[in-house]
Amino acid sequence: MTSKQIRQQFLDFFAGKAHEIVASSPVVPMDDPTLMFANAGMNQFKDVFLGTGSRDYTRAANTQKCIRAGGKHNDLDDVGQDTYHHTYFEMLGNWSFGDYFKKEAIAWAWELLTEVWGIDKDRLHATYFEGDAKEGLEPDNEAAELWRTVTTINPDHIHPGNKKDNFWEMGDTGPCGPCSELHIDLTPDKSGGPLVNGDDARVIEIWNLVFIQYNRAAGGKLSPLPAKHVDTGMGFERICAVLQGMDRGALSSTTNYDTDVFTPVFDAIQRRTGAPAYARTMPADADVGKVSREQAMVDVSYRVIADHIRCLTFALTDGAVPSNEGRGYVLRRILRRAVRFGRQHMNMTEPFLADLVKPLVSYMGEFFPELTSAHGRKNIEHVTEIILDEEKSFGRTFDRGLKLYKGAAADARENHNGRISGEAAFKLHDTFGFTIDLTQLMADEDKLTIDIAEYERLMEEARVKARGVGAEADDLVELVSEAFVKVGSCDDSFKYLRVPECEAFIRTMTRNSPSGSRDAAGVGEQVVFSTDRSCFYAEQGGQVSDVGSAKTDSGAEIRITSVKRLGERILHAGKVVSGEFVTGECENKCKMEVDLTFRKPITQNHTSTHILNWALREVLGDHVQQKGSLVDPEKTRFDFSHNKPVT
Ligand code: SER
Repeated sequence: MTSKQIRQQFLDFFAGKAHEIVASSPVVPMDDPTLMFANAGMNQFKDVFLGTGSRDYTRAANTQKCIRAGGKHNDLDDVGQDTYHHTYFEMLGNWSFGDYFKKEAIAWAWELLTEVWGIDKDRLHATYFEGDAKEGLEPDNEAAELWRTVTTINPDHIHPGNKKDNFWEMGDTGPCGPCSELHIDLTPDKSGGPLVNGDDARVIEIWNLVFIQYNRAAGGKLSPLPAKHVDTGMGFERICAVLQGMDRGALSSTTNYDTDVFTPVFDAIQRRTGAPAYARTMPADADVGKVSREQAMVDVSYRVIADHIRCLTFALTDGAVPSNEGRGYVLRRILRRAVRFGRQHMNMTEPFLADLVKPLVSYMGEFFPELTSAHGRKNIEHVTEIILDEEKSFGRTFDRGLKLYKGAAADARENHNGRISGEAAFKLHDTFGFTIDLTQLMADEDKLTIDIAEYERLMEEARVKARGVGAEADDLVELVSEAFVKVGSCDDSFKYLRVPECEAFIRTMTRNSPSGSRDAAGVGEQVVFSTDRSCFYAEQGGQVSDVGSAKTDSGAEIRITSVKRLGERILHAGKVVSGEFVTGECENKCKMEVDLTFRKPITQNHTSTHILNWALREVLGDHVQQKGSLVDPEKTRFDFSHNKPVT
């Protein structure tokens, strides 16, 4: 059976039990602030479980695009190191909204697995919730009893499980309840019972049946829901491995990565990188000398890259973008991990990830048409371009970062009992874009540790400084603006240049700290200064200011983070990052330059604001009035008046 057939058989089975087949929700939940990514099929039905929303049906089934990286459910660290955790995966699910409950859920799961798909029932194990006194939750004896009575499972294969394994919650808050999981024993002699929930590839969970009964409120309190619901989730890639393994007579040795969900993308990786073929080995095989370390790392790289390109392609298609915070930062980290594996273990020296988007979409696009049709017809180009930009920018610092890492690793081995200094980890992060999880991964591969406490200390120090430059820069301008009252006007027409830069004289400079006896601002100090010319857009009309730099010929530099207009004068605020600047009135010649990567999205969002303004009038009518707006690199916010809610 192909994966496509398996997916369809699942849906057909539940359609045959009067379930409505619904589409997956986007993997980026734009409307639920408690969630970073869709992490389960039930997310889109949260309102139904809570009783605040309803659907036209009381039974549903689908396959849901999920990402479990960042947030409560996070499998990122396991990816590539084992064969059954993924950042992106599909979850096959069936739901009852106050309709059927435990009995049917259990009986139908058993029917599909053993009768329709013919899985050997001696290989199946079921778990049920053992209760939790602290939360005042009873054991789910009802589920245990149903396994005994409505299925033909071997009673010795029914095991109690604790709150961690058998009480499912979507996040810190939200609908939840006890669950009963099905695990498959892949050991050749079916002796894997004791390995259930043991985090062992030989016995893995394939299907989770959750009996949603409670809501967890902020603060942790559980309260019963108005009705009882069923939420099941089966790992699509895992069930494909089981069924395709059975087809091949190789159940025990077939993993998710050996299925047709992954093999086309593995082929694409090999074509693009020229790496040795995937040999299905694990790092542990290299530890015992069964395979070379290089091959084991090539194999980890195949798994990681294939997983990560799936995750990135689906997330970017659904509207996420890599960035420095929140979900965007999770994606940036995922992308850099993939790039690192390709560069360090598959000898890539140039971008390669972006080239995998098209081959992936060529076979996943059939079931998920948004992969080809989102963002007009150009989704492949859209996703490819974003990935390529990110790869290029990380690529620029990668080699130097790797060199620094190798030096730090050698130093750790020779002088510090295998512990990499916090300073090196910090510099890797701060200067070369090696996020700490990436450095940690590299250290793990080399069986080294990192001085995390020192790294954290340096990060905190940097955060404090950055906050100073960002938020405090604004306050500072207010504070010192008096010093600029007598300053002459500034010609800021250079901001209109396509490449906004200009030569200028600094006229007056003040700094944060009271001047004391010094007459210069040095590295790390915050300053505000005025110039005779400027190429910076000051903050205006709800649009944030440009950022950039002012450099003197002698190499002194200020990183400008906030620009304000004071009448005809332009005040630039920022931090000295190298050299010294004379304070007070001066004639300091410098070159000013705007950071275009920061300005470009502002420009685009500014344009969007105009388009939106036009479109609102077009659709709603000329009475629409702009009431305010905010334009920054991340978004445009447009406030307007209209006499009723917009449909
Ligand atoms: N919500 C449960 C899970 O994600 C079952 O769908 O495991």
